[in-house]
Amino acid sequence: MSDLIRLVYASKATFCDQHIGARHQVVDQIIRDAQYQNRAHGITGVLCFDNGHFFQALEGEREAVEALYDNILEDSRHADVWLLWKRPVNQRLFDRWSMKYINVDAYIHRILERERLDQFEPHRFSDPLVEELLESIKISEARPETPLEAPVRWLSRQEAQSRWQPSFFLTGFAAMLALLIGLALAGFL
Ligand SMILES: Cc1cc2nc3c(=O)[nH]c(=O)nc-3n(C[C@H](O)[C@H](O)[C@H](O)COP(=O)(O)O)c2cc1C
Repeated sequence: MSDLIRLVYASKATFCDQHIGARHQVVDQIIRDAQYQNRAHGITGVLCFDNGHFFQALEGEREAVEALYDNILEDSRHADVWLLWKRPVNQRLFDRWSMKYINVDAYIHRILERERLDQFEPHRFSDPLVEELLESIKISEARPETPLEAPVRWLSRQEAQSRWQPSFFLTGFAAMLALLIGLALAGFL
């Protein structure tokens, strides 16, 4: 008989003194290793990283999840690992995700604001809040898992600027064109 459990914990990253690119590389590596290893051990779940904190849900057979959590407790890339939630479950919430990286987006922030948490601090999450967040993440399941081959993309400041500039010029050009048409229609040109 299956002995399925879900375990959720919060922790603090220990590499936040590094520059942003290096931080993102560490998280990227954790996710890619996790996706690879979890497939082999029948583990599924989600991982959020924001504000220097991790929030992770692991689901699978009790023995596999507990062995993984023992490893995670020993991992020097984070500290203050707090167990938030651990229960037997009838079915997985995240059966399609070996370990999906979740951005703490505006929707999650709205839930946190309602709880008077202006920052992502999972150590302060109550039981019902953990459940609500996991349910809301589950609803976003339509998004595909970041494939192993394609690392999570983090835009550097330069990349972000170079993506932004063309749209800036296009907007400027459209505004100028609209102005000229307006002047022509008004008989000034
Ligand atoms: C925040 C965080 C989340 C992690 N999540 C997973 C995970 O989901 N699966 C996994 O196998 N390892 C995960 N790891 C890595 C483990 O801590 C550990 O390095 C790994 O299980 C070692 O596996 P090995 O002994 O088979 O090499 C995570 C590490 C951190 C810091």
